[in-house]
Amino acid sequence: MLASGSRAVHSILPMPPIVPPASPVVPVIAIDGPTASGKGTIAQRVAAALGFHYLDSGAIYRVAALAALEAGLDPGQAEAVAALARTLRPEFAAGSIRLGGRDITEAIRAEPVGNAASRIAVHPEVRQALFELQRGFRQPPGLVADGRDMGSVVFPDAQLKVFLTASPEARAARRHKQLIEKGIPANISTLARDLRERDARDMQRAAAPLVAVQGARQLDSSSLDIDQVVERVLGWYRAG
Ligand code: DC
Repeated sequence: MLASGSRAVHSILPMPPIVPPASPVVPVIAIDGPTASGKGTIAQRVAAALGFHYLDSGAIYRVAALAALEAGLDPGQAEAVAALARTLRPEFAAGSIRLGGRDITEAIRAEPVGNAASRIAVHPEVRQALFELQRGFRQPPGLVADGRDMGSVVFPDAQLKVFLTASPEARAARRHKQLIEKGIPANISTLARDLRERDARDMQRAAAPLVAVQGARQLDSSSLDIDQVVERVLGWYRAG
């Protein structure tokens, strides 16, 4: 009796819940900062050192801006630009970007496209349209993402958030050097003016403005070289 009674008691005990294996969290390092702060170079170097994927979120806004300009849209046409952005399937591979089979790696780097990117980026509809595209880059073993709102909006659970700045003079000089090296004519005072305008727009917009979120490590790279900045970021990440 006792045996069967105890079996009966056993049979009414709740079964332990079936817990699915926890999906491993893919680590993200978010590096945000103003234009020409060096975040792209730093993010790529950190990604290479860790064997992580790399997301240049500015390139995604630039792809959308180029597509909008080529479709004859004005960057102010929020809904039309967002509708177009939702259809875009850019392919990122080995440092090149293709859209509809065409290589647009160089085309998206032109200054008018960068300025249009900053203008379309003020629209919440456009940001929403590009949101999932950016989140899709979060793949094992990890991701280093650079932009303006990586730590605040797109990857708020990032393991490490870095806010990288540099003086406007240092940034204008860096951008000038980059463009000249690519054979693109550039004037340093025009660049400095555009950079200030773009900073103001990126920081003052209502939707996902460029801000250092709470918990972000702030780093001014004006007087540091690339290796020093990369080592600082890797040190923070490894220290957990
Ligand atoms: O980083 P970049 O200069 O390539 O970016 C071009 C523009 O895209 C930038 O002026 C603002 C916008 N952008 C954004 O709003 N949010 C991001 N995460 C990345 C870029």
